[in-house]
Amino acid sequence: MVMEIGRVIGVTTLRGFRFVIREGMEKHVKRDEFITVKEFVTKKEILGMIKEITISNELLPDEFGRTPQLEDFILNEGEYPVPVVKILGYGEEDGMELPRYGINPGTTVHLADTSLLNRLLRQNTRDSGFLGTLSTREDIKVCVSLNELVSKHCAILAMTGAGKSYCVGVLIEELLKKHGSIVVFDPHGEYKDIEFDDAVVAVYGVETNNQLKIGVGSLRTSDFVNLIPDMTDPQRDLLDEVLSMASRFYEKYDFAIILNILTTLYGIKDKAETGTDIFPEDVLRGITKKVGLSTIGALSRRISRLNRMGIFEMHGTPLESIASGNQLTVIDLSDADERVSETIIATISRGIFEARKRYMKKSEGIKIKTPTFLIVEEAHNFAPRTMEDRTILSRYILRRIAREGRKFGVGLCIVSQRPNKLDADILSQCNTQIIMKIINPSDQEYIRQSVETVTEDVVKDLPSLSRGEAIITGIAIKFPVKVKIRERTTEVGGEDIDIIGSWNSE
Ligand SMILES: Nc1ncnc2c1ncn2[C@@H]1O[C@H](COP(=O)(O)OP(=O)(O)OP(=O)(O)O)[C@@H](O)[C@H]1O
Ligand SMILES: [Mg+2]
Repeated sequence: MVMEIGRVIGVTTLRGFRFVIREGMEKHVKRDEFITVKEFVTKKEILGMIKEITISNELLPDEFGRTPQLEDFILNEGEYPVPVVKILGYGEEDGMELPRYGINPGTTVHLADTSLLNRLLRQNTRDSGFLGTLSTREDIKVCVSLNELVSKHCAILAMTGAGKSYCVGVLIEELLKKHGSIVVFDPHGEYKDIEFDDAVVAVYGVETNNQLKIGVGSLRTSDFVNLIPDMTDPQRDLLDEVLSMASRFYEKYDFAIILNILTTLYGIKDKAETGTDIFPEDVLRGITKKVGLSTIGALSRRISRLNRMGIFEMHGTPLESIASGNQLTVIDLSDADERVSETIIATISRGIFEARKRYMKKSEGIKIKTPTFLIVEEAHNFAPRTMEDRTILSRYILRRIAREGRKFGVGLCIVSQRPNKLDADILSQCNTQIIMKIINPSDQEYIRQSVETVTEDVVKDLPSLSRGEAIITGIAIKFPVKVKIRERTTEVGGEDIDIIGSWNSE
């Protein structure tokens, strides 16, 4: 049923207009409600959204504020609310098209029809993910194009406690319905209890039974520098030599082999021992000529320290068991310190990216055949905007994935409560945004600057969103909508702790 709610008044533009409300229709006219009007040349239906309602009273213009007594007057005569509409456009198949002709004053304004909104907000079913319902109308489901969301990356931004992780959970549920391959880097261990009937959940931790292993061969010198912050330049040069020896003489190697090389070098330098069956003496002497005994000793101690962590070994957890169809892999980083977390995120992301690239280019080496979606919680720590104190290695690969992942089927979702601290390049490459309550003005401003689809009026709405409410905008949806994120069907982690309640009960 099409409901007439008003008539266009005043000067209209191609971006918006104002209207007067038809008597009895006041309750339908609220902020963020969708309306339609007919364009005057084509008679096509144009969708718009009520962004503002002004109420003016001709008996009480602004100047009236100077006279204090109002009580004795009947003044609401001549007072009327004027909704201000922002035009979203015609709903075409592949998005919204802005009108080219104008809208006549006097044109009837209708409440947007449920079937129209459903058509525009429900994507084709093969691709669509059901994230919630319109804030203004609970009967209208909001679905996003998962293909667009995954392949062109996504950002979930909000202040703490606004419902980011909950929303990630909803997204994971939708992706697993499509048998997706998802890897979550989880700094707080919030996702490890998720269970799905029809999909595999693999949880890898740092100090758990199912321990994540990283192949030593997949570490680059820069990874070592990150893991061993107190490494000196001579130690670094020596490490370079040792790593190149290891990869020359072994197909795969671990820390034991690296330590063995160092011990051999020590022996030659210290006691003039000779080479071994594996390493020719001239190669070893070439190295020992350049380094001091103490450097060899110091590097050995540092490598031993890494070795004791038990994460790094010869083979590493196979990438195929991390990125696989119909599987959610949770990398629980709650027991890892920040440098180890960065290294894990960097090596796994890099591994998956390279393996997908090999698969697409049909080149030699380990391949992953399923396109994979990487979710990075607390992304501001792993892809920060500035690296004043030190280099954060994970940022490089996350940037690379944000830039090139689409071509190789690697999607990225960054989740953060400090948008303002996120790398701008990565943020601007996330073409779908799910933004929840944000109060901090510098976070708001940064999002507005970095993200094309986030306009001034989206930003203005951010402080007033309630928990679980989000603005979804970007490529995965035809126009920006305010959504109440749906309830999850799976277990939730990261619940608020009732601090006062638990104090009371003690
Ligand atoms: N759409 C929702 N429906 C019902 N409950 C929700 C919804 N969104 C969030 N919550 C609840 O709100 C609380 C906080 O949500 P969540 O942990 O997702 O916040 P967050 O933004 O990830 O916070 P942080 O930045 O601290 O990680 C949780 O208890 C969660 O269950
Ligand atoms: Mg969270």
